[in-house]
This record gives sequence, C-alpha cells and structure tokens, in this order.
Amino acid sequence: MSEAPNKSSGNVVWHHATVTRARREAQNGHRGAILWFTGLSGAGKSTLAHAVEETLHQRGCRTFVLDGDNVRHGLCGDLGFSEKDRIENIRRIGEVAKLFMEAGIIVLTAFISPFRADRERVRGMVEHGDFMEIYCEAPLEVCETRDVKGLYKKARAGLISDFTGISSPYEPPSSPELTVATGKAELDACVQQVLGNMIHRSILKQD
Ligand code: ADX
Repeated sequence: MSEAPNKSSGNVVWHHATVTRARREAQNGHRGAILWFTGLSGAGKSTLAHAVEETLHQRGCRTFVLDGDNVRHGLCGDLGFSEKDRIENIRRIGEVAKLFMEAGIIVLTAFISPFRADRERVRGMVEHGDFMEIYCEAPLEVCETRDVKGLYKKARAGLISDFTGISSPYEPPSSPELTVATGKAELDACVQQVLGNMIHRSILKQD
C-alpha cells in the first residue's frame, strides 16, 4: 500500500522489506489481522480480548493485546479524554496495530474507541478483511452496576468529566463484523463466538 505524504514524511522514502508480511504469515501458519474490540468502559473488552488471546496462544498463534488502560500509561500517556485526545489515541493505536499486523501478528485492541469515524479510519488504513470490528455489547446499566474501577460512580458525582456513556457519547458500530453480548453471555461462549468468526473469515484455520 502506498503511503500518503504528510507534513513530516514528505521527504521520507518508504523502505520495502525483503521479509514480507506474506513470508511472516507463512512461517506463522496464520494470517495477521486486527481484532478491534469496542464498547463502553466495563463492557468486557479487555477480559474478552485477553481470553481470546489465551486460546489463540495455546493454538500456537502469534498474538498481542493492545489495551487502553496499559497504552495510556506509555504511548498515549500524554493524552486525556477530550474528543481531540480520543481521536489521537485511536489514530496512534491504529498505526501501531497496523505495524503488528504487518509483522504477521494477530493484534487484539481493547479501547472504548467511542467514535465511529475513528474506527472507520483504522478500517480504511488496511486491506479489506484485515480489520475485524467486534462490538462488545453491554448496556450502560450493566457496565455501571459492575463498575469494576469505581469510575462510573465518580463520573456520576461529577468527579470525572467527559466520561463515556455519562457525559461523553458512545457511537455503537453500524455494521460490525461481530457483535458479542458481553453484558449477559458467559466469557467462554463469547470466546468461542470470536474464534468461530475468525475461522469463518479465514484468519484462523479449523483445528
Ligand atoms: S478511548 O475513548 O480513548 O478509546 P480508552 O479505551 O483508551 O478510551 O481508555 C478508557 C479507559 O480509561 C476506561 O476503561 C477507564 O478505565 C479509563 N478512563 C478514565 N477516564 C475516562 C473517561 N473520562 N472516559 C472513559 N474512560 C476513562
């Protein structure tokens, strides 16, 4: 894919590797792909992404999870939760996820990624079939009742601003590759649903 010049890369020439994505994938025995988990805070994105990764790892796949709560300590440590910062957060994650995928890895991202346009931008950065949007569907009431990190309580009390679902919007995917009812289904059933869909999309071979 050609890289569009921008203000900082205008005089930088793209260097093509001899060890291509296809060669890496052949060595790995599976395709690289981006599994993009999206949903409210507390919907179960990270839990599901890590559980899927565990199963994939046991099957011998090369995987990596990019997780909102971790990435925001490092790569995106300078970003907050304004609309502008969330857009930049997802842009960076998208670029990193693409690099992982080109390395032949199945990368699982677990970010709220509340804006449809941002998720669609990442989808547009890669070839058709490389990006699998997985909507972790859990009603706000369920996430708020779980309140694992106590953040909803703080948001309701006005101690946290721009909190997704309370004082900042979440735009559900309009046509995700997969919707998983993480608000009510058992974790193992959700994992099996994701794996089944990956096989259906030829990201993974049947056992
Ligand atoms: S995103 O909107 O930019 O995609 P991201 O997934 O990286 O968000 O980070 C979300 C995590 O940050 C939440 O799970 C929660 O633990 C924490 N967090 C802290 N402040 C907020 C906020 N204002 N809105 C949402 N999540 C927040």
